[in-house]
Amino acid sequence: MWRPFRTSVRFVEMDFMTDIHSHILSGVDDGFQSEDRSFRALELLHGLGLRHALLTPHIYPELYPENSPRFIRDRFTALYPTLQGAGVSCRIAGEYMVYQGIENEFSGENVRNHLLMPDGHILIEMSYAFESPNIKSFVFQLNALGYHPILAHPERYNYYSKKLLEISSIADIDTKLQLNILSLGGFYGHIAREKAEAMLEKGLYSYLGTDLHTLSQIEQLKSVMIDRKHVREIERLLQNNDILWNSAR
Ligand SMILES: [Fe+2]
Repeated sequence: MWRPFRTSVRFVEMDFMTDIHSHILSGVDDGFQSEDRSFRALELLHGLGLRHALLTPHIYPELYPENSPRFIRDRFTALYPTLQGAGVSCRIAGEYMVYQGIENEFSGENVRNHLLMPDGHILIEMSYAFESPNIKSFVFQLNALGYHPILAHPERYNYYSKKLLEISSIADIDTKLQLNILSLGGFYGHIAREKAEAMLEKGLYSYLGTDLHTLSQIEQLKSVMIDRKHVREIERLLQNNDILWNSAR
């Protein structure tokens, strides 16, 4: 519970009910590698108050050629009976790398087969080293199709400076933005933290996620402190996460 005299509050003491970005589904990407650890992660997160989780494996044919929507769905269906015992309600989605040619996968009826988040949202990401040349056109295409892109962790992209993010030049890319909560703990370096704080102060994010890849990141999560001046904004993002989960149709 937040108390006014404190200068910061532990993130996990807030109402963290819904995570919209994680790599807990095991054996499909660079995230969790065993079912036991996936279960343990959900158990630990449940102990911290989490009740809903979107599992969002990387979708990037160059690195994970097996990760077709069907393959991921089958894997989720196979593991779900075990995972649900941890008490966290899980749904499957995907984190789509914006690679050259992805447009072709999102034309016409193809879109329906993809691993979308609730209410037509879709989580997208780029390389940390360079901006996808087709990001604007791909996002335009998704919006034109009536979908709602959410760009993961903009604070982690090295080519977006703090200044650029602050003046929200990437608003040219018509997408909602998702904060990695571990960025505020400095786990991706001080530059990512400073960018995240600046964007929070400008109200530029819509959602937050753990982007959890390992059990040890749960310990990191527990250590994240939210500065008092950011508490309201983090609460707003947590509410948006809940709204997104509940908007499933
Ligand atoms: Fe991720």
